[in-house]
Amino acid sequence: MHRLIFLGPPGAGKGTQATILAREMGLAHLSTGDLLRAAVAAGTPLGVEADRYMRAGQLVPDRLVLGILEERVGETDTAAGFILDGFPRTVPQATALERIAPATRVISFEIPESRLVERLTQRRVCSTCGTPYNLSTNPPARPGVCDRDGAPLAHRSDDQPEPVRTRLKVYWEKTAPLLDYYAGRGLLLRVDADAPVDAVGRRIRAALAERPTEGL
Ligand code: AP5
Repeated sequence: MHRLIFLGPPGAGKGTQATILAREMGLAHLSTGDLLRAAVAAGTPLGVEADRYMRAGQLVPDRLVLGILEERVGETDTAAGFILDGFPRTVPQATALERIAPATRVISFEIPESRLVERLTQRRVCSTCGTPYNLSTNPPARPGVCDRDGAPLAHRSDDQPEPVRTRLKVYWEKTAPLLDYYAGRGLLLRVDADAPVDAVGRRIRAALAERPTEGL
């Protein structure tokens, strides 16, 4: 069974690939960013607290994220496995995950930083299902409208230049140390993510096929 982590900087393509591969592989797609944005939109106490961190491009405190992640992992659709997109992002989150549901493989999305700002500022996401698009590299069939459900596309508030700079800095400080953490556990698969969407998907599938998880 696959319990995969997609690890990489903001804009590396984690959400794009998780959306496609979860559907293809029959896995649940667990995005802590999407769960937090849903809490913000619903105006729950957690959402109100998380909102100010997210707008600034900072990480939401571990205690809040761990609560929603643990609840989500306990839902029935995760029984056949899952892809974690955007979690863990700190070493305490990674150690907590080992207690909740240990990962079988970690895909590292490797891409030059210069590509990321361009991808993020051109991104639009479906306001209903969260499917990501890109105005230059992956536009919707009809401008401003999601291909999957016809809902309007939105521009995320943290995809503005200042929060993007903060998110990149936070990634290198807090999340990049997880690359060594998972390499040391023999779980890390490095994938060159600086390629068209289809090619990156093929590379991920090939990397997983080369290092199957049977017996884990
Ligand atoms: P989150 O929603 O997780 O955002 P992120 O990690 O910053 O990642 P992104 O969604 O920005 O990028 P992505 O890698 O998914 O790229 P995408 O596929 O969309 O987190 C947001 C915030 O929530 C955080 O800042 C934090 O505040 C909070 N948070 C979430 N999880 C947390 C946690 N665990 N702990 C604490 N706080 C947490 O692609 C980007 C663009 O590029 C799109 O336009 C896409 O169409 C395009 N694209 C994708 N692939 C390609 C390709 N191969 N070629 C060309 N274009 C491509």
